[in-house]
Amino acid sequence: MTDKPIIDHGLEGVYYTESKIAMIDGHLGRLYYRGYPIETLAQNSSFEEVCYLILYGKLPSMMELDSFNYQLRNSREINPSVLAVMTEMAQKADPMDTLRTAISMLPGYDIDAYDNSNEANMRKSIRLISQVASMTAAIGRIRGGKEYVAPDSSLSHSGNFLYMLNGAKPTENDARVIDIMMILHAEHGSNASTFTTIAAGSTLSDIYAAVTAGIAALKGPLHGGADEAALKMLYAIGEPENTEQYIEDALAGRKKVMGFGHRVYKAYDPRARIIKAFLEELQHSSSEEVKKLTAIELRAEKIMVERLGNQKGIWPNVDFFSGPVYVSVGIPLELFTPLFAASRMVGWCAHMMEYWQDNRLIRPLDYYSGELDLKYVPMSER
Ligand code: ACO
Repeated sequence: MTDKPIIDHGLEGVYYTESKIAMIDGHLGRLYYRGYPIETLAQNSSFEEVCYLILYGKLPSMMELDSFNYQLRNSREINPSVLAVMTEMAQKADPMDTLRTAISMLPGYDIDAYDNSNEANMRKSIRLISQVASMTAAIGRIRGGKEYVAPDSSLSHSGNFLYMLNGAKPTENDARVIDIMMILHAEHGSNASTFTTIAAGSTLSDIYAAVTAGIAALKGPLHGGADEAALKMLYAIGEPENTEQYIEDALAGRKKVMGFGHRVYKAYDPRARIIKAFLEELQHSSSEEVKKLTAIELRAEKIMVERLGNQKGIWPNVDFFSGPVYVSVGIPLELFTPLFAASRMVGWCAHMMEYWQDNRLIRPLDYYSGELDLKYVPMSER
């Protein structure tokens, strides 16, 4: 047996590729997409423009953005066969399972499906970004026992998402809330779902297969599922005055408090900072429910930061403040993670195409620590 190598458990701290898409400074709490600070993009940009930036590596001209928007808007309708499967499945299955299944059906209806050129992959990426938002809205409709709402090509990406979900044109403010949340979730380096996407695509399968794997990885509560888990925790706390005891009990029981901690950020997640400020801004127009959830969050944040902030580098992450923002625009809890997938689709696609420019099959090693040369005992003697 070979000497035991040093094992980077969970690939922590391991670099496996170069990328020009996102830069995360985990110590200073900074995030850039293609060189632009996330704060600048959240303040000035639209989700569509950020998608263009992430995919093409530069901000679009007016004409380029118009053409990009045209393609996005014309890819919104869900194929009736896919919708039929979704309608049957979504009643009972977890929304992320329905979304994963629906996305994996798409190559059956795409003339570019098995063309792996960069041009075809770009076209498929645009379709995927468009489709995943429509599908997320459709899952919400089906689970709410409501009729499918066809897309409206006069609306922005976020506006259309809300329209397909609620069946009514959203206010400008609500559409902007979703737009900003989608910008903040659009990309984040080699997180678990992006790495899974790349690992699947590194076999030279195809972009649909790759992002289907990414959706599977996003589902878990240690990754995309954390925003849902964080909001459930706020509901479990119930009243602001219960917060401190709840958190103390969780820490005493060595339970993870959802929405805190990050593999890369050992400082305040800049996205959480933006969402927190945004939530505070929304307070004057918020419902009593959102106000109460926010009050619980602020108390939970205070005690967590006091206890674990500087001591262990555990700070609020992007998922902590998201819940009440989504509640404020009527997004049901179970759609939080699908909406995360709808935002992150662009990051998955951009990374996949970038990796394919210099593809190498991802194949790490595990160190075998089991027994060897065991004596085979026939069934009758066991
Ligand atoms: N609550 C309480 N303690 C925590 C938390 C938390 N949320 N996160 C980490 N810690 C503690 C750990 O118990 C550990 O303590 P120890 O040193 O006494 O053993 C220490 O901080 C280090 O934690 P690790 O789990 O080793 O950190 P890792 O880098 O593996 O974890 C992770 C990152 C998985 C995100 C973790 O912080 C966690 O489970 N958080 C809750 C889930 C969550 O919010 N996930 C969303 C991440 S962001 C995203 O995916 C979009």
